[in-house]
Amino acid sequence: MSCRPWPLLILAPILLQAQNPFAGNASEADAGRGLFRIMCRPCHGISAQGGRGPDLTLGVYNNGNSDNDLFRVIYHGVQGTEMPSYGARIGDENVWRMVTYIRSLTTRKEPPPPGDRAAGEAFFWSKGGCGNCHIVGQRGSAFGPELTRIGRKRSLEHLRQSLTDPNADLTPTYYKITVTPRTGPNITGTQRNIDNFTAELMTTDGRIHFFERDAVSSIQRDYVSLMPAYKSLPTQDMNNILLYLLSLRGEN
Ligand code: HEC
Ligand code: HEC
Repeated sequence: MSCRPWPLLILAPILLQAQNPFAGNASEADAGRGLFRIMCRPCHGISAQGGRGPDLTLGVYNNGNSDNDLFRVIYHGVQGTEMPSYGARIGDENVWRMVTYIRSLTTRKEPPPPGDRAAGEAFFWSKGGCGNCHIVGQRGSAFGPELTRIGRKRSLEHLRQSLTDPNADLTPTYYKITVTPRTGPNITGTQRNIDNFTAELMTTDGRIHFFERDAVSSIQRDYVSLMPAYKSLPTQDMNNILLYLLSLRGEN
């Protein structure tokens, strides 16, 4: 008689609620998309690609990456930002529906390519020359975008296209710029910073070049990639490197 189980019974529903009841459920995700288009579109865009609010399709979030983190953000909002709270208005279930929808955008639909991740990693740092332009973790050069978390952010198709046709979908801010100084030869590199007074770019050797605007006679920006296209890579090397890129999730 001294042992009363009822406090546990009260806790149980609260604990159970801390799991997405609709995880992986396509029709609930669909319902979530409907709600999203009505309520969230003004800031996050019609397909959650971002606008005034952040892009929600990347699978990485400032406020945490689990279903529970997404639930918390939508339920309570983010204090001190434009992100409102919705929990009181629409209830738990509708919040979970939207979490399920957002999750469905980032869940990989394609099966991973058949390949060898370790061989892909070796290729990246040797024959492929990727490390001459990209950072992963503590290694590499910052000429191109950092790839430490690329496997979370991009789809397999996007990654494949980044390699075979780099111009198709340029990574923002990594455009090619060419600076013509008043004296000396032109310098070409990836853009770092340009404002009314200064221009900064990085050349392939990883060096940053800094110019005062009045020492420069012209700056040309071309929307092309300075990454070579890996078009004729043997299929096996391609699959290995893709498998390696997909495995980069910022955890190692
Ligand atoms: C008035 C604009 C606005 C509306 C409407 C809005 N959001 Fe947001 N949302 C934001 C902003 C701004 C942020 C970034 C908050 C921050 O700085 O952490 C954000 C952040 C988020 C995040 C976290 C992203 C991250 O990286 O941590 C999620 C998830 C999210 N919103 C979902 C939604 C959903 C679902 C709805 C609709 C029910 C919605 N938002 C409606 C502006 C909005
Ligand atoms: C000469 C420098 C250079 C080399 C070598 C290079 N890249 Fe790139 N890479 C870039 C630049 C610059 C960009 C940004 C412009 C763009 O989107 O193409 C980029 C973009 C990318 C992206 C897209 C990133 C994103 O955020 O979507 C991926 C993935 C990538 N590179 C992987 C590789 C891999 C794998 C290799 C080796 C097989 C490689 N790169 C070799 C310079 C390079």
